[in-house]
Amino acid sequence: MLIRVKRRSDPKPSELTPKSVYEDRRRFLRTAAVAGASAAFPGLLVSGAARAGRKLPRVRHNPDYSTDETWTDYDDITSYNNFLELGTGKEDPKENAHRLKTRPWSVAVEGECERPGVYDLEDFVKPHRLEERVYRLRCVEAWSMVIPWVGFELRTVLKAARPTSKAKYVAFESVYDPKNLPGQRRRILDWPYKEGLRMDEAMHPLTILAVGLYGEVLPNQNGAPLRVVVPWKYGFKSAKSIVRIRLVEKQPPTTWNTLAPDEYGFYSNVNPEVDHPRWSQKKERRIGEFFKRRTLPFNGYADEVAHLYAGMDLRKYY
Ligand code: MTE
Repeated sequence: MLIRVKRRSDPKPSELTPKSVYEDRRRFLRTAAVAGASAAFPGLLVSGAARAGRKLPRVRHNPDYSTDETWTDYDDITSYNNFLELGTGKEDPKENAHRLKTRPWSVAVEGECERPGVYDLEDFVKPHRLEERVYRLRCVEAWSMVIPWVGFELRTVLKAARPTSKAKYVAFESVYDPKNLPGQRRRILDWPYKEGLRMDEAMHPLTILAVGLYGEVLPNQNGAPLRVVVPWKYGFKSAKSIVRIRLVEKQPPTTWNTLAPDEYGFYSNVNPEVDHPRWSQKKERRIGEFFKRRTLPFNGYADEVAHLYAGMDLRKYY
């Protein structure tokens, strides 16, 4: 993410998008070499390769909620990241991944519900059947990926908590551990990272909690052990390494919207018609591809989600 509001301790702009041009060229050359084969069998080349990472058992691929576009290379998904807790450069999260301590880990479900609780991660995940969902992820920085997530629908967690009639929004909070997370020792953001959804967005079947990708346990740099994934919104809505899910009555404050409200709206639905104040959102660069592609409204999920915003002026509520 590009940060506009400056504080004395903020990183230099050059630190925020480091090496990206050179990285892109390198990535293109590497991908071009295997493009022919991988287009015919998405994911096959990469998933067959030997890799570190634990396989997640009993994962069912869900074709109904999956794009059949070519999967982004595993190495790109796990080495070109935005995770400011682990650094501001794209490769910092992978380099600092070991600093994120994911065990023990608990998740609190609280606020406007009849059954709040604090759960150990295993107990939180165990009741759910894990599914593979291949989603597009479109970052507000105008790049995108296709990621085979493993996870389960957020709505199952919310329903089990029995929301009261006052529950209108869901607020998410990411881990806060400045002792271990280098980014949190700098005032880049007002930590911890916070995000939020309206209740109907959170209850939509496309909205998932991911615990893995490429059939394996989620790498730390991608938001282990548990992250939100909302595929029709800019990537920053998908909070990583979450520890708290709070049902609330009022629209909750969110990290980017609080920091720069004119640049990052609460809704942040992918909308090629609404430019970011400093760049166009009409096109995106799919990581691993050379030519830019046109960005689709709602990131290509309009049929599934446009009705949630019927009657809303999406230029105003960007
Ligand atoms: N969550 C936390 N806690 N911290 C972050 O810095 N970055 C966001 C989002 N979730 C971020 C976060 C942004 S800007 C994007 S684009 C996606 O995570 C990137 O996810 P990825 O690195 O797995 O592709």
